[in-house]
Amino acid sequence: MKKFFTLLIAALLLATTPAQAEDLGVELSDIAATDFNTPIEKFYSTLPKAKGDYKSRVRPIMIEGAMNTETEFLIRALKNPVAYRELNYLFVAGTYKDYPVVIVRTEIGVANAAASTALAIKKFNPVAVINQGTAGGHDPALKIGDIVIGEKSFDYTAFRSAYSVAGAGIDLTKQENIGTYAYDKASGKFQAYTEFFPDPTLLKVAKKVANANENFNVVSGVIGTGNTWLECVDYINFLHEKYGSSCEEMETNAAAQVCQNAGVPFIGIRVLSDNVTNDNRYVPESAKVAQEFVLLVVERYVRDTLNHKEVSD
Ligand code: 5AD
Repeated sequence: MKKFFTLLIAALLLATTPAQAEDLGVELSDIAATDFNTPIEKFYSTLPKAKGDYKSRVRPIMIEGAMNTETEFLIRALKNPVAYRELNYLFVAGTYKDYPVVIVRTEIGVANAAASTALAIKKFNPVAVINQGTAGGHDPALKIGDIVIGEKSFDYTAFRSAYSVAGAGIDLTKQENIGTYAYDKASGKFQAYTEFFPDPTLLKVAKKVANANENFNVVSGVIGTGNTWLECVDYINFLHEKYGSSCEEMETNAAAQVCQNAGVPFIGIRVLSDNVTNDNRYVPESAKVAQEFVLLVVERYVRDTLNHKEVSD
């Protein structure tokens, strides 16, 4: 699987022209495109290590990204960063504009997103979680560098196929979304959720930031999650039409699920790095655009809603 992704992404990187990265206003030196997923040891060794457990007077905001290109800009934006390592997931705590922020390197895929989110919630007790990173477009109107604020997310691999007899062939369009299981406070049980919605305050703040910053091209839409990378345009069109998916990626819905279990406010925000429906090839440098946008969201969220209030526990 790892080899598959390495080969896949290496091939996609070769298809990238530097002009596309420049179009996004991204300095190639900002993020090393060929080093988009640095080995943990190398990455960890460059950061100051935390001494002892995390302590903060106020609950931090947690920002997640799956790999280097999706977290490096955020980590560089932190003041006094210190690194933690648990089960080989990396967490970097510091402050951004004087407010405590923790960056989580979730690694790729739903299981890693869920595990690292759960660990980080236990370890850092965040007041809110933002999952961000790159995504592939399902909406042909979206191009590389465009941002999707997750109005909702769903797991497009969580489905029950229609029954058909042996030899009838495979039709992925005959399916029902059966959801993923998360804790429901009212019933006290884990129940199937066919979609997750973001925290309304985080959503409002993200939309405000979008309206106030015209240099970002932002839409609100549906984030589809799965351990898949779809290149079959007919199937993508089917998902887009049936579920309204704006884009696909591999972490948001899993992190949303865990945040629902833990009762922590959550939002997913993604930048398009590729869109096979309109021939936009993979540009990993686009990851910086989401990080820049998310830092504005964090700043505004702190200013408008948290206001440095102390947390009593
Ligand atoms: N399909 C699936 N995942 C994608 N990602 C970027 N584009 C796509 C795509 N078209 C993100 C995932 C994962 C990594 C491979 O990049 O979220 O972390």
